[in-house]
Amino acid sequence: MALDTSSKIATPDRHPPRQPESAAVDPLLRAGDGGRATRFNTIPEIVDLDRYPLHQPGSEAVDALLREGRATLEHDALFSLPGFVRPEAASFMAAEIEARVPVACRHGTDRASYDSDGKSWPAGHPRTVKHLFRYHQVLNHQIPNNSPLRRLYCWEPLREFLRQLMGYETFYRSECPHLALSAKVAGDGDTDGWHFDGNDVVFSVVLKEPEQGGLFEYVPNLRTDKDENYDAVAAVFDGNRDGMRSVKLSVGDLNVFQGDYTLHRVSPVKGDRKRVVGLFCYDRVPGTNFGEPYIEELRRYLPGAAPTRNS
Ligand SMILES: [Fe+2]
Repeated sequence: MALDTSSKIATPDRHPPRQPESAAVDPLLRAGDGGRATRFNTIPEIVDLDRYPLHQPGSEAVDALLREGRATLEHDALFSLPGFVRPEAASFMAAEIEARVPVACRHGTDRASYDSDGKSWPAGHPRTVKHLFRYHQVLNHQIPNNSPLRRLYCWEPLREFLRQLMGYETFYRSECPHLALSAKVAGDGDTDGWHFDGNDVVFSVVLKEPEQGGLFEYVPNLRTDKDENYDAVAAVFDGNRDGMRSVKLSVGDLNVFQGDYTLHRVSPVKGDRKRVVGLFCYDRVPGTNFGEPYIEELRRYLPGAAPTRNS
């Protein structure tokens, strides 16, 4: 995947060189200097470090979390760390994200549950059935540089914890100007339809809960490498809830979800209060970006873009 470096061009006259930072002190744990947010400048203000001391790798508490997480992901597709982000910080982040909804992408298309495999499938086959996906998406470059949500995403101990949890040898933050860090906002009637993910894992943090609906529903490991289990997928589309988990994700939860074999959706939100979730993107390869065709599709969902067939 080619790395687009155009976004990295800086204007030196406007950006004085950064002061060298001591390698011994995580700069994100220090109180801020210019450009910092007015509140939640430091990781202790954002993360419940008493419960989740990720800044102490190798500690008994972190090792226990890693063991619990790996064991959970063995039989369930979802591992949640409840209350990872402090509620006041989550509320601040949610407000920052909601303020950007007027400039955000507006998704509102019916989509299939699967990425295309290049074959043609008969009408009515689970691969052809489409579901509504409707929500706002705030992109990386729309989120302020001094946002506490970005500070959390850039917190090195979190990246290292997630690397160890997943058992990856290498693990890097994405460099995508659009999707490295993003957020989804779902209002009344918004939903993510049933689907399998095209990637192995998604990391999210819940910033705001709706009054009703917006439940995360999934059927763990409904398909395997060897068996697509289309009959069971079709049954879920028809309303069968056997083996389904329906979870109300709470404010502050950090969620690790493996959705490539697990059919999942977010049920329609009900009420005026929005569901707001931050999404963190990493890759085992450094310098990754999302492909331009997908980004071009996102641009079509921005306010003022030319209408598409689906809108
Ligand atoms: Fe998904």
